[in-house]
Amino acid sequence: MESRRLGRSGLNISAIAYGNWLTHGGQVEEDAAQACVRAALDAGITTFDTADVYAGTRAESVLGRALAGQRREGLEVFTKVYWPTGPGHNDRGLSRKHVVESCHASLQRLQTDYVDLYQAHRYDPTVPLEETMTAFADLVRAGKVLYVGVSEWNAEEIAAGAALARELGVQLISNQPQYSMLWRVIEAEVVPASEREGLSQIVWSPLAQGVLTGKYLPGEQPPPGSRASDPEAGRFIQRFMTDDVLGRVQQLRPVAEDLGLSMAQLAIAWVLQNRNVAAAIIGATRPEQVHDNVQAAGVTLDADVLARIDDVLGDTVERDPAKTSRG
Ligand SMILES: NC(=O)c1ccc[n+]([C@@H]2O[C@H](COP(=O)([O-])OP(=O)(O)OC[C@H]3O[C@@H](n4cnc5c(N)ncnc54)[C@H](OP(=O)(O)O)[C@@H]3O)[C@@H](O)[C@H]2O)c1
Repeated sequence: MESRRLGRSGLNISAIAYGNWLTHGGQVEEDAAQACVRAALDAGITTFDTADVYAGTRAESVLGRALAGQRREGLEVFTKVYWPTGPGHNDRGLSRKHVVESCHASLQRLQTDYVDLYQAHRYDPTVPLEETMTAFADLVRAGKVLYVGVSEWNAEEIAAGAALARELGVQLISNQPQYSMLWRVIEAEVVPASEREGLSQIVWSPLAQGVLTGKYLPGEQPPPGSRASDPEAGRFIQRFMTDDVLGRVQQLRPVAEDLGLSMAQLAIAWVLQNRNVAAAIIGATRPEQVHDNVQAAGVTLDADVLARIDDVLGDTVERDPAKTSRG
């Protein structure tokens, strides 16, 4: 498995990371979750991404159990804070109180003394940025968090956060945005700002939640057991489930075949061509998906292939930077 540096830090991560949104504690049972983590570890994935809010906090506990007994130094464990984790008015957002309390709860559920990366899951316009970044810096100094990152922040927010972090003597090293062949809203502003400030992207839904695997066909019901067929987990994939998008995705099949790649491998390799992307975070409901997807690491796509992909997808690609964090 290829390693990449995260931002301007010394931290190495696996170019393919494993994430457990919607799956652990939700769409898949414990044994399937454990099998996927096992498959990820066997394939050389060392970077695992979760969040306090996933499956109402259960996802962190599942991941903690799945990673128990692994050599801690051989893993990079990432989590996040922002979305509500309880009914109280302080159980959400980026106040010092919630950041510190949620971090402690995450560490317990993950069965670890520290996380390698602690991420602000969204920007919180209701809390002074100084308060959030000072709380993050204190967690770093307390050894509970090694590095700090953000998720779905826009270019201005990233620049302001990075400047404050520097003042406080900590490193803001990553942004976690949605990025795929179909969703490229970070390219115009977020990537240039991140390059200036020394952040990498660790990107989510590189398969557009499964759409780019080609398994959803225009005019047909989603296959049983897939994310789009699940009333709860399928709520977020709907943006891509149009006949136009699904039809164009089918036209990517010959592009993948000409390269000897699966559709999933082509999609994951595509995000990894962006030099500001340190990792693609993949989700999986079955170990076979992990086996398929990890083979995208190290694949190079030449300019002709990238142009062919653009021709096929045409105006179904979303590029508007104003849609950052509105995926
Ligand atoms: N920061 C944020 O706001 C944010 C938001 C969302 C996600 N994330 C992170 O990104 C991670 C990945 O997101 P994601 O799960 O949407 O990523 P994804 O890799 O685009 O989609 C994963 C889903 O696609 C299907 N799939 C995967 N590989 C496949 C294959 N080879 N063949 C057929 N189907 C396949 C599986 O669903 P089915 O089998 O059910 O169809 C799987 O659960 C999350 O776990 C989380 O860590 C972060």
